[in-house]
Amino acid sequence: MAFKEKLAGTMEFPPETPQPNVYPLSWVNTTTKLQEVWEASQREYWDPEKLPWDTFNVEKFTWEQRESMAYWWTLLSVFDASAPPVFASAFIKTYEMHEEDVVRRCFFSVTRDEANHEQMCGLAITKLLEHPDPITYEPKTEIGRKLQKNAKWLYFNGGRYWDGFKTAVPKYSLGVLFSSFLMGEMAAATIFHQMSAGCSELVFKEGFAKIGKDEGRHMAIVLTLMERDYPTLPEEEKEIITKQIRAGYLFLSAVLYEPPADFWDIPDDFIANQREGEIHAREAGFAIPELEVKKENWKKAMLNVKAVLDKYDTPFPAIPEVGITGKEVTDVDLDDIIPVF
Ligand SMILES: [Fe+2]
Ligand SMILES: [Fe+2]
Repeated sequence: MAFKEKLAGTMEFPPETPQPNVYPLSWVNTTTKLQEVWEASQREYWDPEKLPWDTFNVEKFTWEQRESMAYWWTLLSVFDASAPPVFASAFIKTYEMHEEDVVRRCFFSVTRDEANHEQMCGLAITKLLEHPDPITYEPKTEIGRKLQKNAKWLYFNGGRYWDGFKTAVPKYSLGVLFSSFLMGEMAAATIFHQMSAGCSELVFKEGFAKIGKDEGRHMAIVLTLMERDYPTLPEEEKEIITKQIRAGYLFLSAVLYEPPADFWDIPDDFIANQREGEIHAREAGFAIPELEVKKENWKKAMLNVKAVLDKYDTPFPAIPEVGITGKEVTDVDLDDIIPVF
């Protein structure tokens, strides 16, 4: 094997290292805008365990309310618990691609933030259920049982995307990946600010405000990189992006709107159960937006993504569900999904 062969005795300098090598020995920075985002991420770093959990008295809620709030956090976890490995893969890719130093650091910050968001989900669920796992938890009420059935189906569905994602990361350029990331960040930034404003419980108010701020930074990172890369994007990548956006819409609808039944494999009573749970959660002061507000949010987020893509002449897919016209995309399958939040 060439690896074992000793070369140092036969030449003064080693041969060239085959590229791309996973570790760039260089710290080039040209996208200076990102330095500000990185510095903000350092300044704004927070610890989910340090939120005012001592003010959060779960005893004052009914078990219906507790199980319903825990369900919402579980629904969020289906997306947020996949975010750390998703962004960790993208982080590795920035090294493989010998991205700028500041780009590598920004992806590090996103990975770190997403780990925080996932931890926050876990802390909320554990406190509400007095059990660290919503799937093995034993429901105490009728609605709790219905919601756990929902949670199991969500978990099953989300689990089908990891293999697709793993094959997508090496296959696609960072530019293509950015389009999927942008969808998630755009939508997330909206919902968390709203939840923060509407929630009466201090620990949720503060947690959502911090998560919303993180997502805003993630969005800034993705937008800055799109600004850098999209003007020279090859035509064939644009086509993939159009499909990705449609896939991302279907995927993220589960948390931001309602899961489309033709894409998500869910039982007939899923939506009704979820709506019933939302009523209990809202009664407890947990501000899940009403269906019409969700739809408006989602539409607004989509239009924001569309505005970005329009700028770079990348066709936007038709999203008739929220009244957006565009290029018809019909052949979305599991392998097309780059799940992010
Ligand atoms: Fe997140
Ligand atoms: Fe994010």
